[in-house]
Amino acid sequence: MSNEAANMHDDVALAGRQVATVPAGGESASDGSVERARPVPRISIQAFCETESSAQAVQAAAEDRRLSKTHVSVHMGGTPAAVAHYQESPTPNLIVIECSATREQLLAELDMLAEHCDAGTKVVVIGHINEVILYRELLKRGVSEYLIAPIAPLDLMESISNLYNDPTSDPVGKVYAFIGAKGGVGSSTICHNASWILSEVLQSDLVIADLDLAFGTTGLDFNQDPVQGIAEALSSPERLDEVLLDRLLTKCSEHLSIFAAPVILERDYDLQVDACETVVDVVRQNVPYVTLDLPHVWTAWSKRLLLQADEVVITAVPDLANLRNAKNIIDLLKQTRKNDNRPHLVLNMTKMPKRPEITARDFEQALDIKVTAEIEFDAETFGQASNNGQMIEELNPKAKAASILRDIAMTVAHRQEARPEKKSALGFLDKLKLKRA
Ligand SMILES: Nc1ncnc2c1ncn2[C@@H]1O[C@H](COP(=O)(O)OP(=O)(O)O)[C@@H](O)[C@H]1O
Ligand SMILES: [Mg+2]
Repeated sequence: MSNEAANMHDDVALAGRQVATVPAGGESASDGSVERARPVPRISIQAFCETESSAQAVQAAAEDRRLSKTHVSVHMGGTPAAVAHYQESPTPNLIVIECSATREQLLAELDMLAEHCDAGTKVVVIGHINEVILYRELLKRGVSEYLIAPIAPLDLMESISNLYNDPTSDPVGKVYAFIGAKGGVGSSTICHNASWILSEVLQSDLVIADLDLAFGTTGLDFNQDPVQGIAEALSSPERLDEVLLDRLLTKCSEHLSIFAAPVILERDYDLQVDACETVVDVVRQNVPYVTLDLPHVWTAWSKRLLLQADEVVITAVPDLANLRNAKNIIDLLKQTRKNDNRPHLVLNMTKMPKRPEITARDFEQALDIKVTAEIEFDAETFGQASNNGQMIEELNPKAKAASILRDIAMTVAHRQEARPEKKSALGFLDKLKLKRA
């Protein structure tokens, strides 16, 4: 056994005795806050801070995926340093200025800065005073936003995101990525079912992008045989617009469309990172929900799509290789996405007869993450559904997996479904009580 595998064995063995010190999701931002900030376009941002903590917050925001297209530089020295700098060089799209001085001094410094600001440059101020008069004066001077120190990276990202994303004219769809810890673990199946459920429940348009170009099953799973699809978009992403997108999508139901894979082996599919990003961006500009059915490969583009997604769903079957791979993916996501929710982990094909398994509890303790859902192995239901080109709920709404898939979909979209209350078996007792009262 390799060292790595041996270590994993230790992890699993230890897991049973470990006491988790960080509750799952404890380090990451809460759901609500992550919803607040959206990806920001390719703008240049220069910050001139006075305090170390603000500089760190700006730096943390700059490293976030939502600002990954922007160019951010962080300097110290506050407004005086900015004024000196812009005497020599042109101003960027956005200047972030920190000033801890009094109201009068802050306003005087800003007036000085204004003399060197090019038209079109926006200014966000980080101050240490919380008062209405100051706020009014800042607005008068055209300051876009006033944040009170200490600031959190997400506060800054939210302000910048609001400045550059107009929610009325520039809708940005959510992107949910689905990946398997190994091949064949049911990631695509879960992606398709969850996507179908979301489109039905939210009554909102959703596109599944099948990125398994050579072997994808999205077409098969929805009983479609499209001629064109995602490969055409990826080969000339610069041509992709609303009209072409409409032509390349295959409609499966009122709200669900698929961006199908060609599944032709004569072609080569060496995807470019930029092409993938552009295609996803165009889709998300036009559709409120995009799910990415990622194949189990590790390339520059698959990594980028995974790291850029709003939510990530990892599917694993309960064995050691899956545990190790899931751990690697989760660790990478934790490292690079400090302001995001943890990924969602689905354990699939559990309770397969006679197969030894690593339990959900061991997964949770080894990975320091809560298992979002567990789906039992059910060859009959899943086999029938995929042979028919149907979703599980369409085939059999009473199947155990149907309600679990629903829960997964709702969790990923941070929605709660209003469920009809279960009728109590003791209904007549309740009635009796009511009568007495
Ligand atoms: N819980 C389950 N029980 C039985 N079969 C399943 C289950 N989940 C998925 N499958 C089947 O496993 C096969 C592989 O699933 P797929 O979604 O293509 O995996 P992946 O995308 O991870 O490669 C499919 O035939 C699917 O119907
Ligand atoms: Mg797949």
